[in-house]
Amino acid sequence: MKTNPGQGRFNRWAPSYDRSILQRLMFEPVHEAVLSAFRASSAPPHDVLDVGCGTGRLLETAAERWDGVRFTGVDASEEMVEEARRKHEGDARFVFKQGDASALPVESDSFDAVFSTMSFHHWRDQAAGICEVARVLRPGGFFVLADIDVPFMFFLRPLLRWTDHANFQGPKDIPRLLEQADLAVVTRRRFWALLRTQLFLARKGVPIVRS
Ligand SMILES: C[S@@+](CC[C@H](N)C(=O)[O-])C[C@H]1O[C@@H](n2cnc3c(N)ncnc32)[C@H](O)[C@@H]1O
Repeated sequence: MKTNPGQGRFNRWAPSYDRSILQRLMFEPVHEAVLSAFRASSAPPHDVLDVGCGTGRLLETAAERWDGVRFTGVDASEEMVEEARRKHEGDARFVFKQGDASALPVESDSFDAVFSTMSFHHWRDQAAGICEVARVLRPGGFFVLADIDVPFMFFLRPLLRWTDHANFQGPKDIPRLLEQADLAVVTRRRFWALLRTQLFLARKGVPIVRS
């Protein structure tokens, strides 16, 4: 498995992550967009997975809206997972596991909804991560992926990969990866949440119309 050399940064960020100004400026608007994209396409889910869940804030927001749902968060950073567990200790609705997107520590066909916000560009093996999402989704389940949409990709991308170990994908690359994993893109959106953000909602088990 390819691990992320930037992981130490997330371990260090974990204790103060929830107090970051970026929560209000970037992460919360992105979480709202993800939940509203899901709500527009599906009935409330039973089992939700967040890949690269950080301290579990997206799942907390979802739990304010949906009753009777089991929420699982997976994150590569031990400290993010530790922080998420500490906040939700004794709350049986939440389970947090340390693990990598490319080898999700959960059973196949076990989620109606998988979310991932502002994490994808850190995944070392993005194709494997998306295949893992497809594996753990139930047929008919939805994956909502939101990530930064970097402008001027042709010259910024190599620079960011070099300086930040980040692998940003463009709006044409992500649908290709989703469809290679047999996830059909249903909705795509671009919006601003401090940075330009791209969102894709894809579904497992529906025919893919390739152009
Ligand atoms: C910027 S934070 C976003 C956290 C959360 N999704 C949110 O919206 O607040 C990115 C998270 O992705 C996690 N991450 C990075 N690479 C990962 C991987 N390959 N598998 C799982 N999690 C990963 C990091 O540990 C970090 O917690």
